[in-house]
Parts: sequence; structure tokens; C-alpha cells
Amino acid sequence: MYAPVLFSLSGAAPISRSLVRALNVEEGRMETRRFPDSEVYLRYHTPLADREVIIFCSLDRPDDKILPLLYAAAAARDLGARKVGLICPYLAYMRQDKRFQPGEAITSAYFAAVMSSHFDWLVTVDPHLHRRKSLSKIYSIPARTLHAAPLIAEWISTTVTRPLLIGPDGESKQWVDAIAEKVNTPSIMLEKTRRGDRDVEVSIPDPKLLANHTPVLVDDIVSTAQTMIKGVQHLKKAGTRPVCVAIHGIFAGSAYQDLVAAGADRVVTTDTVPHETNAIGVVDLLAQGVREMLRDERQLFIPPG
Ligand code: R5P
Repeated sequence: MYAPVLFSLSGAAPISRSLVRALNVEEGRMETRRFPDSEVYLRYHTPLADREVIIFCSLDRPDDKILPLLYAAAAARDLGARKVGLICPYLAYMRQDKRFQPGEAITSAYFAAVMSSHFDWLVTVDPHLHRRKSLSKIYSIPARTLHAAPLIAEWISTTVTRPLLIGPDGESKQWVDAIAEKVNTPSIMLEKTRRGDRDVEVSIPDPKLLANHTPVLVDDIVSTAQTMIKGVQHLKKAGTRPVCVAIHGIFAGSAYQDLVAAGADRVVTTDTVPHETNAIGVVDLLAQGVREMLRDERQLFIPPG
């Protein structure tokens, strides 16, 4: 049996290089490109027979990445890989977890079914689990959820003076509570009404609670940034400018510029999605999760014959 080999489908993502070093595995060589008609070409240049194959791919802006990713998993199996695992720092298609309007597709469940049929395991960071409490509700493969809260708590503790954590909506409570407990600092939750993709309102924080504190808006995902922007606008009217912290900085279109223009004092994200706001690294967290997954998978593996 050969040592695990890690391939990156996120181009030259610096985080996947760091993972190769942290896990002490071989960095595999793979070629992907588009044919002139835009169909996917994919070729492995590293032998895969009887190997544990790990594919790294963060799934922000997912639709262009998903088909190459599925082909990569299928080809690895076809070429004799023993197991094919996925490290996916940002897991896409988690937010549509319910039929809000008649006829809507519950894409989180359909996406999970497709991924579960192509991979043997999955490691990810803080997937958007809201109505579902665990990935096992929709993923039928071993799926490990890692939490960035201790890393964010450490960043806040060492960078922000007298922080007051503010969650923009009930969904962010799980992340805000976990961070506030570790920082040992107070937290408040706002209420959000979403009327459309970019039409969001959040409630006004009580100005009395802001006195002598640096407000820190915390959310798991920033997409259009409208949720954060509404919070920033209220805080600006109350005479203060918050630090904005998100686990996954998707920043659709001009979201980042809009958030800065709205008056955010600083915008900080983890490096699950590459962006200039990345200030909190998740490589060691991912490496630990992958080591545990490989150990568990080996214990379960019964060699053929
Ligand atoms: C909500 O479900 C999430 O926790 C985030 O609050 C949301 O994804 C943020 O989206 P946007 O940046 O588009 O307001």
C-alpha cells in the first residue's frame, strides 16, 4: 500500500500546499483544462493504484468546480484508488435546507447525495448547519465538521480591545456563543428579516450595551454582505464602527467594497476561501481533521482478499 497523495482542484491554492506539508503527504500532479467547447479535460500524472487519494477543493463559486471535481473522484476510482476523500474548507449548497416557497429545490440534500456517491469521506469547516444539526442528516459518507471558533476567539482576544460580539441573526448564534465563551466576553443577537437575496434588514442594537466596547459583528458566511452592512449602518448611527469577522468570505460582486464603504472598521475572514481579508489560518485545523479521518478510515478498511 502506498502513502496518501493530495491533489488540489483549487488551482495553486496556498492552503493546499501548506496542507501537503502539514500532513506530510505527496503532492499529486493533475492536469485540468477545458476543451474549446468548454467540456472538461482531466488527467492524473501521478499513479493512483491502491493509494488513498485526497482531493482539496474549496467550493465557493461552486458550479464551475463541481463537474471537474466529480470527474476527478470518478477517475481516481477508475485508476485504482483505494479511497477518495475530499477536503472542502467551504462546503457549498448548505443554505437551501428547506422548501421556503412551493416548488423550490432543496439543493443542500441533492448536492449531498451527489457528493456522497463520489467520495468516501469529507472534511470541512463550519458548514452552514441551521435547521439540520449534523452533516450526517444529508451526507451518507463519514463527514467531519471542524470548528473555527477557537481560532477566531484567539484572533479577537489578541487584536480587539474590550470586544462585544454581535450576531446579526439567530442563525449566527451558534458561532457567536462558541466564540464569546472562549473570549470570555459579552454577546448580543440581532434579528434579521430577509425579503430577498439582497434585501435584508436587521434590528437595531441597544446603544447602552455598546458603551466601552468595540463591537465585533460575527457571521459564518458573508455573501452579498447585506447582512453585515445593515449591522454596520446601525452601529455607525450609534457612533461606533465595528470589526466584521466571518468564517467564510465569499464576497459576491462588490460585497467587500460595499462593506468597507458602509463603515466597517476592519473586515477579517479565515482562509477557507482565498481573499485579501484572510487573517485567520485553518491549515492546522484541517490537517488535524484529515489525520483523524484517515486513522478512522484505516481502522474500518478491510483489505480485499
Ligand atoms: C445566513 O443564513 C448566513 O448565516 C449569513 O448570514 C448569510 O449567508 C449572509 O448573507 P449575505 O452576506 O448575502 O447577507
